[in-house]
Amino acid sequence: MGIICKNHVFTLQTKHTAYQMKEEGGFLFHNYYGPVIGDMDMSYLVRPLDRGFSGQPQEIVDRGFSLDTRLLEYPSYGTGDYRDYCLHAAYEDGSQVTDLRFVSYEIKEGKYALEGLPAMYQGEEKAETLEITLEDKYKNLQVVLYYGVFENLDVITRACKIVNKGEYKVRLLRAYSMALDFDHKELDFLHFYGRHAMERKMERSSLQHGFQGVESRRGYSSHQQNPFAVLCKPDATEEYGWCYGASFVYSGNFSIQAEVSQADTTRLTVGIQDTQFEFHLEPGECFTAPEVILSFSDKGLGQLSRNYHKAIRNNVCRGKYKTARRPVLINNWEATYFDFTPEKLVAIAKDAKELGIEMLVMDDGWFGKRDSDFSGLGDWFVNEKKLKGGLKNLVEEVNKTGMKFGIWFEPEMISEDSDLYRAHPDWALTIPGRPFSRARHQLVLDFSREDVRTYIFDRMCEILESANIEYVKWDANRHLTDVWSAQLPADRQGEVFHRYILGLYDFLEKLTQRFPDILIEGCSGGGGRFDAGMMYYHPQIWCSDDTDAIERLEIQYGTSFGYPVSTVGSHVSVCPNHQTGRSVSMKTRGIVAMAGTFGYELDITKLSEDDKEMVKVQVEEFKKYYDLIQNGDYYRLTDDGSKSPYVAWEFAAEDQSEALLNVVVLRAKANPMLHTVLVKGLKPDAIYRVEGTEEEYLGSALMNGGYPVPVLWDDYQSIQVHFVEFLH
Ligand code: GLA
Repeated sequence: MGIICKNHVFTLQTKHTAYQMKEEGGFLFHNYYGPVIGDMDMSYLVRPLDRGFSGQPQEIVDRGFSLDTRLLEYPSYGTGDYRDYCLHAAYEDGSQVTDLRFVSYEIKEGKYALEGLPAMYQGEEKAETLEITLEDKYKNLQVVLYYGVFENLDVITRACKIVNKGEYKVRLLRAYSMALDFDHKELDFLHFYGRHAMERKMERSSLQHGFQGVESRRGYSSHQQNPFAVLCKPDATEEYGWCYGASFVYSGNFSIQAEVSQADTTRLTVGIQDTQFEFHLEPGECFTAPEVILSFSDKGLGQLSRNYHKAIRNNVCRGKYKTARRPVLINNWEATYFDFTPEKLVAIAKDAKELGIEMLVMDDGWFGKRDSDFSGLGDWFVNEKKLKGGLKNLVEEVNKTGMKFGIWFEPEMISEDSDLYRAHPDWALTIPGRPFSRARHQLVLDFSREDVRTYIFDRMCEILESANIEYVKWDANRHLTDVWSAQLPADRQGEVFHRYILGLYDFLEKLTQRFPDILIEGCSGGGGRFDAGMMYYHPQIWCSDDTDAIERLEIQYGTSFGYPVSTVGSHVSVCPNHQTGRSVSMKTRGIVAMAGTFGYELDITKLSEDDKEMVKVQVEEFKKYYDLIQNGDYYRLTDDGSKSPYVAWEFAAEDQSEALLNVVVLRAKANPMLHTVLVKGLKPDAIYRVEGTEEEYLGSALMNGGYPVPVLWDDYQSIQVHFVEFLH
């Protein structure tokens, strides 16, 4: 296992997978990615063939050889491979062609890190790094390819660094992180599209010739497309078949494209989307392309997801709350919106405490002049008119009830009606002399600028140090337009998008270091920046502004393909729901929110006694199941409800000693069908008892015969069943 190099054949082996490439004649070819193949040189699969209009590099006479048809590891633009490419550079003489050839390689213990960028880290895992250096010797441009091999996770990471070793400036017009070539096109493409309040809907289609893919030009990874995608064999299901995942560890513009070529080969490329991208490298400077987490499973989409769950939970998420139990919180947004007083918040805290809730989060509206979304962003000073007695006092009052206190910020944004904007209009992303676009009536601060970041950072620190604040909700409620920075010269405006994200990461790194005990929940109008990059700083992210439990079934289903439950911010809210007007039982709302970090988003002082009793039970149950839910193996047992009449999912303990089955039946039917759900991840020979009953089942019976779903009266009813191994 690990990294093997034999005659310039590089085989990266994990427990169940192998990734292979080969250096030959200076070219770095891709050989194979799939189940283990020992150290067999897979290049026997390459057959020379003369394809018309696919030419040869100058030194090669054989018309059977063409870069246009071979599987390549890091294709560059301009020398005869007409497929999608990773690298496009422009040089001082106006030429735009790069010819990358192998220079050297190095194998290192441990996992590489990327300066200024989030990336998987080694943690408790066994990991190795392969670095391969390629070079265009005419322009002295080097590319160092990084491969991180996580044996037990069945994960291989990729990233690269582009170094200008020459004497002249180089303009990078595209600097993707990786390409992955396949010698066939029999693959389906799965991606996760959406919109505000309906993120990450799974869509699956078979590959066609030409391009298909997803991308963001919004400056953020976005609600509209997610930087995670899967290629799988057409027969792959949850439990069967070959699947390849690619998760981009980046929170800005991205592109994930699959291109099927003339020769029926497929190329997957992943990188920073190159609209308005132009990065300048002066002599000696380098550019680091963000990481991609690759994983392969021949056991279906479920196993592929579980590989990502583990990798992100243990080797992307960091900090105290990676392992410490996160508090069950109550957030006042849907309870009060902007209209709250300290008395109201303390009243919520008191009632919440009695029901076992552990933290009150004060959402938007506590600072500057902020009684609506027209004003106040950027003025991170406590609004003492609203918070009479001040923040410290409020936090103390809340703490006295026995509750922790959390607070909302939207650090990257600015309102025109704010003192900050009046003092520094050029701090917003706008272009002088042009009208600009607003969204939610606000503008975006130029986070590529250090002075802007430092100002906001200092304001945040002052607030966070002024009281016993134990949680921050970091929001960002619009996407980027009018991208131009007053601090960069005209010819470097192509760097702003990326520098914004680098600035954001720099800010978050400093913030997490300064406040290691504060839990930071990410948010961007719900799940608009739900990506592995943000998870390096935020162990949880508010999954969607849609809190309707039935809509959440779809959102959480799609989200679960690439991201663990421990990252999914999910709350119980009131009915009729504020986004859809739908009413769903308290029980079902609780069960759905438990497939996440769990909390409440309602005015608890207004709940009926019955509902309050229910909240108490839910909180107790969530705490009881916490480990199983957050660290257990997650199984999708149905689709998202678009075809199946009910939605079911399950958490199974890694040691298979218990499992928690969740079923939400969608529409009640007269004269109904009877449903049976197959349970997963149990020991076939063990007896399991349904907790709180005398019912006993053999593991193999539950897994092969199934568990009978009772007929439930009314729409959207649910069951939660806890199976525990029973030792007679
Ligand atoms: C965003 C968030 C909400 C809430 C509001 C406050 O929409 O996703 O949860 O915090 O902002 O303005």
